[in-house]
Amino acid sequence: MSEAENKAIRHLWPHFSAPPTEHPIIIERGEGCYVWDQHGKRYLDALAGLFVVQVGHGRQELANAAGKQAETMAYYPIWGYTHRPAIDMAAKLAELAPGDLNRVFFTTGGSEAVESAWKLARQYHQLRGEPERRKVIARKTTYHGTTLGALSITGIPALREAFEPLIDGVTHVAKTDQLHCSMCHRSCNLMCADEFAAAIEQEGPETVAAVYLEPVQNSGGCFTPPPGYMARVREICDRYGVLMVSDEVICAFGRVGGWFGAERYDYVPDMLTFAKGSTSGYSPLGGVIVRDAIAEPFIEHGEAFNHGITFAGHPVSCAVGLANLQIMESERLPDHVLANEAAFRAALEPLLEHPMAVEVRGAGYFFAVELVKDKDTMQSFSQDESNRLVKLLKTAMADRGMLARADNRGAPILQYSPPLIAGPDEFAVIADVSSEILDVGAAAMGIGT
Ligand SMILES: Cc1ncc(COP(=O)(O)O)c(C=O)c1O
Repeated sequence: MSEAENKAIRHLWPHFSAPPTEHPIIIERGEGCYVWDQHGKRYLDALAGLFVVQVGHGRQELANAAGKQAETMAYYPIWGYTHRPAIDMAAKLAELAPGDLNRVFFTTGGSEAVESAWKLARQYHQLRGEPERRKVIARKTTYHGTTLGALSITGIPALREAFEPLIDGVTHVAKTDQLHCSMCHRSCNLMCADEFAAAIEQEGPETVAAVYLEPVQNSGGCFTPPPGYMARVREICDRYGVLMVSDEVICAFGRVGGWFGAERYDYVPDMLTFAKGSTSGYSPLGGVIVRDAIAEPFIEHGEAFNHGITFAGHPVSCAVGLANLQIMESERLPDHVLANEAAFRAALEPLLEHPMAVEVRGAGYFFAVELVKDKDTMQSFSQDESNRLVKLLKTAMADRGMLARADNRGAPILQYSPPLIAGPDEFAVIADVSSEILDVGAAAMGIGT
């Protein structure tokens, strides 16, 4: 084993995975849609790192933007002072965001953005004389981050268990799972959207601060909203005076086509959380984009939002973010995604001929394939079986030079989110490797092909 591998095993605590005991994959270099490991092996980065690297790896422009800003002024806080990169990035985000989402509260990542929006909602209601409005309604199987506030909004029991009791006052309602939905008996009446209203009534509308949802829900595998769903949720939030938070930590910056998921699905949330793709991962940056009306009571009362983070709105990250958005604009990446969405889906759909693959769903450059044990009966895998299957699929795809997601936080899925510069060549690799690994998975699970 190499020195770096030994050090990784001895000293590095990896996230959401047991420490490796042998030969970790060490990613050393990236270019375009591909990355290379310590042995020079090439992988198609079919998850854009972690839904992050929109413009692809190895972009000199972004490295230059970081270096130039670090040389000029590497750090100053946005507590009391401000600096040009934060001002310019905030103005650019306000220009791109839909409606009157005009004011940006920066963070360093997604969990902090989700948590900041909850605190902002609470202080907003307090300033307006409704201090009892503290609760949140979110959706089942949803991932909104890991800090204790964000984790309380996260709806994945396995991630919460070790840390219970979490912050009180979060209720989880149905997600938009059209494949398994038994609510509307196949003619969609948006009963899943109406669950938000029922939960608000149940909790007491005067106690509910905010509703959180992603435009396309990641966990469980790229659940898109049925037509009319977002408009219904918007209407419910307005009816009860509850703030609508669009968690776009994944869905913003072209991932689902359009600059933001809210743009793609035609709604204006009260707050929009972002991170990941804002800088394509060349430096960390997240935040909350807030509607004028939500900032208004703070301005009217001359009140600070009593919340801050040392590295939020970091000058280097904001400079990189601006350069990243410039690339996305000049290469028209949100339009490129929309133009290629159908081709991506078409490349994946032949996988449905496989006995385990039951649905291809998603939008833009964000798709999942759901797997079942028996397509005729829709029988799913047991927990042990699905753990085994997902592990096997992950290894098999890495062996074949592709990094994507095999996951079972809901039903087992394969999930893809390539850099937004990808096109038909990358779709073909994704389809070929997926087809091969499904065969490997089926053979190991004793499912006939
Ligand atoms: C929808 C959503 N919200 C929040 C987060 C948390 O972001 P971070 O990992 O940057 O804290 C994630 C991370 O994947 C996410 O997908």
